[in-house]
Amino acid sequence: MKCIINRQEKFSAIRHYCLPELENKEVQPCFGINSDFPVWGNNYLLIVFLGGELGSYGMVQNFSKVKKTIQKEITNQLHNSYLNQIWPEFQQTPPTTENLARVIWQRLKSHLPLFKIQLFESSEIWAEYLGLNMEASVTIKSYFCAAHRLFIPELTQEENYAIYGKCARPSGHGHNYHLEVSAIGKIDPRTGQIVDLTALQQLIDTKVIEPFDHTFLNIDIPYFAKVIPTVENIAVYICQLLQQPISDLGVELEKVKLMETPKNSCEIYCRSSRSI
Ligand code: NI
Repeated sequence: MKCIINRQEKFSAIRHYCLPELENKEVQPCFGINSDFPVWGNNYLLIVFLGGELGSYGMVQNFSKVKKTIQKEITNQLHNSYLNQIWPEFQQTPPTTENLARVIWQRLKSHLPLFKIQLFESSEIWAEYLGLNMEASVTIKSYFCAAHRLFIPELTQEENYAIYGKCARPSGHGHNYHLEVSAIGKIDPRTGQIVDLTALQQLIDTKVIEPFDHTFLNIDIPYFAKVIPTVENIAVYICQLLQQPISDLGVELEKVKLMETPKNSCEIYCRSSRSI
């Protein structure tokens, strides 16, 4: 029986997003989401996913050994460090979160049966790396508040209650939606980025957050005049809104996850090769 287990570790570090070839220039044009603050710190959360067969002790790997390996090879070295100078890999390619995830994979792969590296620079931005050369994904989490009512106009109120329950009540109700948008692409060896996160965030804000926030979806968003705004249909529409503009940024929309409540969410895998 194959299983995937994961181990979380934390570290804090500072970095800047300046191109290595400009490192010693007096003026250092910087880029990225915090370009006004070229040097800043993050409290990183690293999640290492390991895959394998269950051994005779009922484990994929001994968690105690996994913990010691991650600490020795990664977190003890990175904690309280200046990332741009701590490892030689970052002399070539800056320590963006996606590149950091890739380098952590490279450094752990001979020690552990890796399945995936997930690295959070905050609760709202994280990267994933699966060992596929320069391919990585980044996810941005955003929020909006909106009201909706689930009902089919052609049906009676009783019939709508039978399908949608309380969600069919006549006056509608609201949710605080959490939206996760994941883009996948190749890490640029010069910038360390798969995509300009500022541009990606602006796109999500412009296409989704600004038009959706504080609306009654059924009335204010024309798409939902004919389509019932279930969490699934909203996620599908967000995929449609973002797919081409994200492609224009040079990456692919990988996944949209929309959480309607802490208990209800929908994920859409948007790449044709991985769609379900
Ligand atoms: Ni609802």
